[in-house]
Amino acid sequence: MRIILVGYGVVGQSLTSILLRRHSDTVRDHGFNPKIVAIVDRGGAAVNPRGLDLERIIKVKKLEGTLAADNEFGHRGMQPLEVIESVEAEVLVEATPTNVKNGEPGLSHMKTAFRTGKHVVTTNKGPLALAFPALKELADYNHVYLRFSGTVGGGTPVLELAKKCLAGDKITAIRGILNGTTNYILTEMSENHIDFEEALESAKKLGYAETDPSMDVDGIDPACKVVIMANWIMNKKLTLKYVKVKGIRDVTLQALEDASKRGNTIKLIGLIDKGASVMPTEISKRDPLCVSGVLNAVTYVSEFAGEETIIGRGAGGPETASAILRDLLDIRHSLADRQLEELEFGGWRK
Ligand SMILES: NC(=O)c1ccc[n+]([C@@H]2O[C@H](COP(=O)([O-])OP(=O)(O)OC[C@H]3O[C@@H](n4cnc5c(N)ncnc54)[C@H](OP(=O)(O)O)[C@@H]3O)[C@@H](O)[C@H]2O)c1
Repeated sequence: MRIILVGYGVVGQSLTSILLRRHSDTVRDHGFNPKIVAIVDRGGAAVNPRGLDLERIIKVKKLEGTLAADNEFGHRGMQPLEVIESVEAEVLVEATPTNVKNGEPGLSHMKTAFRTGKHVVTTNKGPLALAFPALKELADYNHVYLRFSGTVGGGTPVLELAKKCLAGDKITAIRGILNGTTNYILTEMSENHIDFEEALESAKKLGYAETDPSMDVDGIDPACKVVIMANWIMNKKLTLKYVKVKGIRDVTLQALEDASKRGNTIKLIGLIDKGASVMPTEISKRDPLCVSGVLNAVTYVSEFAGEETIIGRGAGGPETASAILRDLLDIRHSLADRQLEELEFGGWRK
């Protein structure tokens, strides 16, 4: 499997480190021998159709700031679209920053990959939040796979639990704590009796919150995840503008203390049932969903299996890269199934 990786920051670099470390295991355990044939960052690209030497690429990025500085395979200023169009590969891994205004540059990267017959694995929520139904349709139309495990729950297999383990059952509702930063802030406020601003400062110091924390504290990041889950798991064809969103800026210490007297606390809950929303919500401290710190948790309510809750770290470079590896393996297995099916029936299955 030849892979083009666009975006070589925390997630992209974690992916190359994991591929280096796990290479012989993935070949042995799954017969899976991935080759990264191109990597693109803002400085340009490194391209080698026979597979880049990842150890060398990691060093170049660390020393020079861009892999385009590689003196043999680097191309300064080479743009992602040119790489996706011109380099032969089976899969695009998209790991550029999330943009919820217009989805770019990730949206164009994904569309170009589909148009040129490449499967896409993405950790970038922006394009999916704005255009999930259209992107899925485009992937199906071009007979390629679109996978995005790392967009919800980091390395925790939140989407797989619903899609694979609960297959056959009917999921009627999803409730989740889908953002570690806001959960950390609410936990700090509730347990250490500090106000929102103080808890936000603490989150920034620990590297949990960005300098501009609005994607998290205003509920946009969890709302993107609600869109992805609603489409993928509950087959609701919605986009970000249809999610009712309220962040945690107005949650007061008083409200948390009042909730605590009732044996409850306030969490930022993403909810998908008849509608879709992200709202600060009072829940019981005994609810399995009530996790603390930066943990994420999701409860699936299904018709026959009842309620299942999955808990795990919702972000992190290596965690998210492990989700990418899972998606690559899933594509590999799906392709093998497809080949068998084509031999038997001459057909294509999504
Ligand atoms: N970090 C996590 O824990 C995590 C978890 C889940 C999902 N995600 C999502 O995964 C994606 C990547 O996250 P990250 O933490 O790896 O971000 P990051 O560290 O900011 O890295 C972003 C990468 O994209 C490159 N880039 C930006 N604009 C580009 C453009 N126009 N063309 C080519 N390359 C471009 C940057 O290039 P330079 O290196 O030259 O700056 C950088 O290599 C984001 O969408 C994020 O929301 C992240």
